[in-house]
Amino acid sequence: MVKISVSNQKGGVGKTTIAFHIGNMFASDGSRVLLVDIDPQGNLTSCFTDTLSDENNIKLLFEGINPEPLKVNQNMFLVGSDITLSKYEADAKLANFFRLANFLKTQEFDIVIIDTPPSLGLFTSNAMITSDYVIIPLDLSRFALSGLADLMNSIEKVKDATGRDIKILGIVLSMVNERSLYYREIYQTLEKNYKDLLFNTVIPESVKLREALGSGRTIMNVLPEHKVSVAYRRLYGEIRERLR
Ligand SMILES: Nc1ncnc2c1ncn2[C@@H]1O[C@H](COP(=O)(O)OP(=O)(O)OP(=O)(O)O)[C@@H](O)[C@H]1O
Ligand SMILES: [Mg+2]
Repeated sequence: MVKISVSNQKGGVGKTTIAFHIGNMFASDGSRVLLVDIDPQGNLTSCFTDTLSDENNIKLLFEGINPEPLKVNQNMFLVGSDITLSKYEADAKLANFFRLANFLKTQEFDIVIIDTPPSLGLFTSNAMITSDYVIIPLDLSRFALSGLADLMNSIEKVKDATGRDIKILGIVLSMVNERSLYYREIYQTLEKNYKDLLFNTVIPESVKLREALGSGRTIMNVLPEHKVSVAYRRLYGEIRERLR
């Protein structure tokens, strides 16, 4: 079972969109996929349902109960979340950091994709502690790079504290407008400092993505030949390659 977190403490960089698409692609390829939404915003959950039952809610973990993965399509299951998860965020006792790790030991899937909130707090720590790999989406804003060192630092800390080998699977520019003021600057800095980590594929910016997710479908489903669909398929290919 390969566990992959999609993380960046910066908000709105495309974590949920990537988690949703990557999860769907693994599932259509025949892998048994578990999607885990450990963000109290519940955005990944909203791609599938507006009425999450408590028994499928990740918050149960923090009450000492294992949630039941909800079947969302043929090969894909979801442990979802909603805003009621947020009340556990402040309860940073040691045991709370290992809730997700311990739960996943009871599960049998090929791939687990974990969507994390825009913070480096308890929930993201739960995800990191159990992950084999982290995918880091980046946007092209002025400050896109400034949080990257902090994120990598906190991954190092989790590695040191747990003795686990957590690898960065890659950094992906997740909403690229090539005319953006910062595109070249950011791309060049990434190439210089993180060449081996940077995915060759960049995901173009498109409003079509928001529309697709709003209807619970992937962009490949809605517009298979769209440039974003092509990009996602390439990204998936690179991910598969790096997992070999
Ligand atoms: N390639 C893209 N082009 C245009 N819009 C995009 C793209 N990818 C994602 N978006 C949109 O940008 C917004 C933020 O994306 P998303 O929710 O995936 O980010 P996030 O990092 O999960 O945010 P949060 O930190 O709040 O969890 C969403 O409205 C989403 O539809
Ligand atoms: Mg999100």
